Amino acid sequence: MAHGFFLFLLLSCIISTNIHACKETDHSSLLFFASNLSSPPLNWTSIDCCRWKGITCDQDGWVTRLLLPSKGLKGDISPFSLAYLTHLTHLNLSHNSLYGSLETQFFFSLNQLEILDLSYNRLFGELPLSLQSSNIRIVDLSRNHFSGAIPSSLFQQASNLTSFNVSNNSFTGCVPSSICLQHSSPFLRLLDFSSNLFNGSLAPGLGKCSRLQVFRAGHNNLSGLFPEDIYNATRLEEIALPLSSLHGAVSDKIVNLTNLATLDLFYNHFGGEVPLNLGKLSKLKFVTLDFNNLEGALPPSLMNCTNLVELHLGSNNLEGDISMLDFSRLSQLTKLDLRNNNFTGTVPRSLYLCRSLKAIGLFGNHLEGQIEAEILSLKFLSFLSLGYNRFTNLTGAMKILMSCKSLQALLLSGSFVGEGIPSDDDMVYFHGFQNLRLLSLANSNLTGQIPLWLSKLKNLEILALGSNQITGPIPSWLGTLPRLFYISLLDNQISGEFPKQLCQLPRLLYEPNIASQADQYEFELLVFGFKINTNQTFPMQKLSFYPVTIDLSNNNISGSIPVEIGQLQLLRWLSLHFNNFSGIIPDQISHLKNLEILDLSMNHLSGIIPSSLASLNFLKEFNASYNNLEGPIPTGTQLQSFNASAFEGNPKLCGAPLPNKCRPNKDMDGHHQLPWFYIFTVLGFIVGFWGVFGSLIIIKTWRYAYFQFIDNLQDKVYVMVTVRINLMKKRLRD
Ligand SMILES: *[C@@H]1O[C@H](CO)[C@@H](O)[C@H](O)[C@H]1NC(C)=O
Ligand SMILES: *[C@@H]1O[C@H](CO)[C@@H](O)[C@H](O)[C@H]1NC(C)=O
Ligand SMILES: *[C@@H]1O[C@H](CO)[C@@H](O)[C@H](O)[C@H]1NC(C)=O
Ligand SMILES: *[C@@H]1O[C@H](CO)[C@@H](O)[C@H](O)[C@H]1NC(C)=O
Ligand SMILES: *[C@@H]1O[C@H](CO)[C@@H](O)[C@H](O)[C@H]1NC(C)=O
Ligand SMILES: *[C@@H]1O[C@H](CO)[C@@H](O)[C@H](O)[C@H]1NC(C)=O
Ligand SMILES: *[C@@H]1O[C@H](CO)[C@@H](O)[C@H](O)[C@H]1NC(C)=O
Ligand SMILES: *[C@@H]1O[C@H](CO)[C@@H](O)[C@H](O)[C@H]1NC(C)=O
Ligand SMILES: *[C@@H]1O[C@H](CO)[C@@H](O)[C@H](O)[C@H]1NC(C)=O
Ligand SMILES: *[C@@H]1O[C@H](CO)[C@@H](O)[C@H](O)[C@H]1NC(C)=O
Ligand SMILES: *[C@@H]1O[C@H](CO)[C@@H](O)[C@H](O)[C@H]1NC(C)=O
Ligand SMILES: *[C@@H]1O[C@H](CO)[C@@H](O)[C@H](O)[C@H]1NC(C)=O
Repeated sequence: MAHGFFLFLLLSCIISTNIHACKETDHSSLLFFASNLSSPPLNWTSIDCCRWKGITCDQDGWVTRLLLPSKGLKGDISPFSLAYLTHLTHLNLSHNSLYGSLETQFFFSLNQLEILDLSYNRLFGELPLSLQSSNIRIVDLSRNHFSGAIPSSLFQQASNLTSFNVSNNSFTGCVPSSICLQHSSPFLRLLDFSSNLFNGSLAPGLGKCSRLQVFRAGHNNLSGLFPEDIYNATRLEEIALPLSSLHGAVSDKIVNLTNLATLDLFYNHFGGEVPLNLGKLSKLKFVTLDFNNLEGALPPSLMNCTNLVELHLGSNNLEGDISMLDFSRLSQLTKLDLRNNNFTGTVPRSLYLCRSLKAIGLFGNHLEGQIEAEILSLKFLSFLSLGYNRFTNLTGAMKILMSCKSLQALLLSGSFVGEGIPSDDDMVYFHGFQNLRLLSLANSNLTGQIPLWLSKLKNLEILALGSNQITGPIPSWLGTLPRLFYISLLDNQISGEFPKQLCQLPRLLYEPNIASQADQYEFELLVFGFKINTNQTFPMQKLSFYPVTIDLSNNNISGSIPVEIGQLQLLRWLSLHFNNFSGIIPDQISHLKNLEILDLSMNHLSGIIPSSLASLNFLKEFNASYNNLEGPIPTGTQLQSFNASAFEGNPKLCGAPLPNKCRPNKDMDGHHQLPWFYIFTVLGFIVGFWGVFGSLIIIKTWRYAYFQFIDNLQDKVYVMVTVRINLMKKRLRD
């Protein structure tokens, strides 16, 4: 490689005989660098390299800056690429697609370098032992594929270093806290080690970084205690250590960090109480302590943090009467997350004075009382999660909330248990909930019929009414809701037929214009999905993660499956399990090319299994058991790859994967045992339903895995045990 360079140097000496401002070695170096790029052309054709785009020289003609960020550069960066730019102070090649490893040679002559930004490239390999330049101030290597440990010698000469960002790489070993040891880098302000593979505990040392403002090291495999000396770095404005396995308590010494604005310890094992004097940190804006083991009551001093913008304390073991807290001074607060704790009392009235609130999460506590009309003073309220509490007066609550103009997601499942579904006539003509996209009223044993006012919710996309005591038919107007794509009515006492009108739901038809409207609404508070078959949980950010679904299982719906169902080409999940459907399986189901789950089990369907079903390429789960189906299971199709349990309980059905071969005369073996087996399975299924489908909104996230909404106390255990850091990390990297 060095050979190649000298050859190059020689050649360009011969060619460029003209006198120009730019130094010859720099000129050649740059051309050598450019020659390794495959695209796009840099247009470095004029003779004076000091005039080239991206180049700055000093008055002697030495190249001092090479700034080509976001130029779409592709190609190799070789260790010698820039080795002869001896006067280079600024190198910024960020946001390109450069490939290669930086070895010691790369930095060999760069001993004037002050700013090095190679972020967002495809660089790999280990870092050199030293950066050579003692002038170095900013190093940004984030979002590459670097690996190995960060050698502590890297910083030995870096006494002017202010910022070091290596986030989103694959570095291993310990977080080099030695970077702060006395006299090495006294000016350090920013350290970002997040999203790597660092492990072990955080060694003391950070406290010596007396000017440190930002410290991030989350999304690694860190364990151990929070290093006590961090409280000595009193200039700290941000501590972000989410998604790690740190434990211990957050000490009250944190009050020494008087500049702290962001404290993010999301998803660790921190225990103990919220520091009593946390409220003395008057600059606090973002407090993210959810998914830890914090206990005790909230310190009243917290209500003195008048600059708070987001307060996330969900999924801890916090308790106490929250109606005693005075939120009235938190005028900047936009998000309050107290979900999955043990709080008691009523919704504090003072909360309604936090006029900036966009999201309130109180799900999974022991709160009681009613929703007060004052909530309407929260003009920006978009996300409201109150489920799994002991609130009462659903009709009153809905009549109030209907006027909440900004409300997009309303999650009330598991509260208001045993009440009637609000169905007053005046609700129909009120035209409320005009921006509501998600309504979840599941798991509450609500009685009554599907109310007419729902037909006015023109923006409704997700309707979850499962596990109630709803009676009556599925109203035909449900098929007119223009944006509805997820209907869960499972586990009710709904009767009547499958309305043909449901087969006209615009979002389920194949209409490119409508499909492209798929909206990007992001939940203001993280909602967790639970992957049913592996017990893994995932954070759900967007409404669009839900699969297009019609789930009518466990009801009393009768009649035949309408042939029009074939129009719902975007449907991905269809469950008619455990109803009274009769007639044949319509051939048209084979038009549902996006179907991934089809459950027709436990009905009275008869006739054959149409062989056209084999064309459902995405089908991952299929169940037609316990019907009156007959004839051979279509052979040579992927239907035969499902377990026999998908077909059992159909005595006249034959062929693989069932054990009984297809023969002209009917095989009546096992007929006597059938009723018992049937009952047993039904019971098992119901128990399974309550256990597994406990909170009833079934959602989908990337990589075709199905999830259940957990947002739910019991499932916190799963979250703690099974969310793997790298899953989230993956998302954040993608
Ligand atoms: C860079 O280009 C030089 C000359 O064109 C070539 O000899 C060398 O192999 C290239 N280096 C890499 C890493 O591709
Ligand atoms: C070089 O010139 C071409 C054509 O004018 C242009 O498309 C390209 O972006 C230029 N390259 C750079 C790095 O500016
Ligand atoms: C590198 O250039 C990009 C784009 O102009 C800029 O955003 C970034 O701040 C620069 N890096 C440094 C360290 O100045
Ligand atoms: C650090 O920077 C200052 C001014 O920016 C400079 O005078 C000093 O020489 C630098 N120190 C080292 C060791 O390079
Ligand atoms: C480090 O770089 C990443 C981009 O790769 C950026 O998102 C992050 O904000 C940077 N860290 C700090 C503390 O600026
Ligand atoms: C914090 O600083 C104080 C005073 O500078 C010092 O006495 C103490 O040892 C330091 N604490 C830690 C944990 O380093
Ligand atoms: C915190 O501040 C108090 C007084 O302001 C001081 O006595 C104590 O040493 C400080 N603690 C640390 C760890 O710096
Ligand atoms: C809140 O701040 C006020 C004055 O700033 C102080 O008097 C009060 O004690 C503080 N409250 C708590 C609970 O710390
Ligand atoms: C809530 O408190 C009860 C007793 O008061 C306790 O049994 C339960 O474990 C607590 N739950 C949580 C999540 O802390
Ligand atoms: C239910 O709430 C409404 C509206 O706040 C109220 O008018 C009504 O009295 C409440 N009903 C009961 C039984 O408390
Ligand atoms: C709903 O009613 C059923 C049967 O009465 C009961 O087993 C179940 O626990 C109730 N569900 C709730 C959420 O109270
Ligand atoms: C999921 O968790 C439940 C309860 O802990 C357990 O019974 C079940 O076997 C688990 N399933 C899988 C696939 O790990």
